[in-house]
Amino acid sequence: MSIKPKYNAKENTKIVLEYLEKFPKAPSKTLARKIYEENKGFFNTLENVYIRVRYYRGQTGKSHRKNLATRDFQQELKTKVMNNFVSMPSSLAEKRGTFTFPTGCRKLGIIGDLHIPYHDEDAIETACDKMEAEEVDSILINGDLLDFYQLSFHEKDPRKVHFKNEIEAGKQFFEYMRSRFPGIPIYFIPGNHENRFERYLRIKASELLDMDEFRLDVILHVAEYKIEYIPFRTKVVFGDFLIEHGDKIPGAGGVVPARTALMRLKTNCIINHFHKSSQSSQRVYGIDKPTTIIGYSIGCLCELAPDYMEINEWNHGFAILTKIDNLVSVNNYKIEGNTII
Ligand SMILES: [Fe+2]
Ligand SMILES: [Fe+2]
Repeated sequence: MSIKPKYNAKENTKIVLEYLEKFPKAPSKTLARKIYEENKGFFNTLENVYIRVRYYRGQTGKSHRKNLATRDFQQELKTKVMNNFVSMPSSLAEKRGTFTFPTGCRKLGIIGDLHIPYHDEDAIETACDKMEAEEVDSILINGDLLDFYQLSFHEKDPRKVHFKNEIEAGKQFFEYMRSRFPGIPIYFIPGNHENRFERYLRIKASELLDMDEFRLDVILHVAEYKIEYIPFRTKVVFGDFLIEHGDKIPGAGGVVPARTALMRLKTNCIINHFHKSSQSSQRVYGIDKPTTIIGYSIGCLCELAPDYMEINEWNHGFAILTKIDNLVSVNNYKIEGNTII
């Protein structure tokens, strides 16, 4: 699509102006969604596009209207009274996306919380050996693959690993996984630790947020290693199970994190954020007949006694899920040393 040179504006603003010119009658929200979907690399959020569309249509207040660089697209405010009908304000709410594994995926290995470069090599080898022996047909890396220590806003030791080295270690891990599992899809969804990267940009360098070059999946070269990237906070569904990293569940997880997750999510679920293996089930009364929902929390694959929390109840672990029709059964493995228990 050609960009008209008459607008002296940043690349993403040019895109917004071009769409405004092309679709003058489209509702602002619909147009913003179209722009965002068709030009994802240029915009960080849908909200960001929506605000720009409304800005150029003169819908973001009197003072902005006065300072508009171009009035070509200015429109009447939507809240104008017509036949006693007042439209409600447009919603800025964004719906979370859902990722459902392809139907061909029947045996899924889940690993998470490696916290590279503070990972446990033996535990990872053990998990990979088992996934290989069980012939999983897909693998999900379910968040906190990387620690991003230097991007944390907690007090930190500047002598510890640098961000660049963490990224290099992450890329090396993708290469390792690809060499061990060359022929199967490997999926990666970020957890709260990878989200430190976006939080860091928002707070320290918000100007870079819209730039393709500063996207986590680009920095980690996921495409080069044929890793399927699932955006942060996407709902992940495998058969009749919901898979979450678990950081959205408030609190520390409690004695049985699986129970905490089950009571919050109220559906079959798997999490790993709390670094501890556990299982919990609940009988639900139901309309026709009672059913049982099951929750699992998976252990981690990182060091078990980090400086900031030396005493904890963490354990190493991973899971293998098997799906028949749409029903999933779960093997939630614990690792002790380099043995599965
Ligand atoms: Fe974690
Ligand atoms: Fe986490």
